[in-house]
Amino acid sequence: MNEAAIIDGKAFAEGLLERIGEAVGTFKSASGLVPGLAAVLVGDDPASRIYVRNKVEKTAAVGMRSLSRRLAAKTTTEELLALVESLNADDAVHGILVQLPLPDHLDAALVLRAIDPAKDVDGFHPLNVGGLALGDRSALAPCTPSGCLMLLKDRLGELAGLRAMVLGRSNIVGKPMAAMLLGESCTVTIAHSKTRNLEDECRRADILVAAVGRPGMVRGGWIKPGATVIDVGINRVEAPEKGEGKTWLVGDVNFDEAILAAGAITPVPGGVGPMTIACLLRNTLLAACRQRGVAEPEI
Ligand SMILES: NC(=O)c1ccc[n+]([C@@H]2O[C@H](COP(=O)([O-])OP(=O)(O)OC[C@H]3O[C@@H](n4cnc5c(N)ncnc54)[C@H](OP(=O)(O)O)[C@@H]3O)[C@@H](O)[C@H]2O)c1
Repeated sequence: MNEAAIIDGKAFAEGLLERIGEAVGTFKSASGLVPGLAAVLVGDDPASRIYVRNKVEKTAAVGMRSLSRRLAAKTTTEELLALVESLNADDAVHGILVQLPLPDHLDAALVLRAIDPAKDVDGFHPLNVGGLALGDRSALAPCTPSGCLMLLKDRLGELAGLRAMVLGRSNIVGKPMAAMLLGESCTVTIAHSKTRNLEDECRRADILVAAVGRPGMVRGGWIKPGATVIDVGINRVEAPEKGEGKTWLVGDVNFDEAILAAGAITPVPGGVGPMTIACLLRNTLLAACRQRGVAEPEI
């Protein structure tokens, strides 16, 4: 039985970061400015701390200025809004991200709406969400689905007419992913926890994007032979075979089964994950170009 090709998101992301680094150099020469990304972290969530640290490191690595703002877990919505306002007004800041999830007492929707849409490099502001839905290519689009789309286009070329299944309807992955695939003229189905006959729905898809947060939920038999599978899931599961307290990182797709059915598949880790940060930095560069009237690079 043929095994699926592995879609190497890590290698693709490294190439993209290299191209971003070159384009940052061109931006600096054209404008005399350094693109700046402000990352706001509220509280002590360990996973969020790691995500923000990675973003800060990669920002510096492509030659951009990284401004990291850490606030105490007890920060009020008003204090956070005041910080966002000051970053909106800061000419050295071209992109702003507020790391999610925020502590429960904070009004995340209000905070995301307060970010200047032109600096909203996560693409979560309603104006950017609406722009994506309307097919406005100048809208800043969410990073994880943008990365998935790049991998799909790189693998498949033209996507028009393909049947795509997006498993999951979150605002940060599923919904924007579906909008992007529709924008590419795919025939798109969105599935969620109330979907009936989920396996049958999945088996019809030429492209299957899994973003449910359920380790190994998509079984080999759910996949149309030869389909392209993008596994967005990042789930930690216990790995007693590695020792006490140790864990594995696994996706939403049962990889060992899927590799025997799919035509191509992203691994976890090393698939979609690295693309997310690369797309964040791409958005930051595009945002800086637009704010400064510099020609946008083709990357
Ligand atoms: N690679 C990256 O950079 C990256 C970025 C973001 C997220 N992720 C990962 O992607 C996964 C999804 O993240 P998310 O933020 O989109 O998750 P989320 O907000 O929890 O949404 C999960 C979606 O999956 C659906 N779902 C849950 N259980 C289901 C089931 N048994 N059958 C069918 N649908 C089901 C939910 O349906 P309902 O709406 O009906 O509840 C919901 O729409 C997580 O593992 C997350 O860690 C990775």
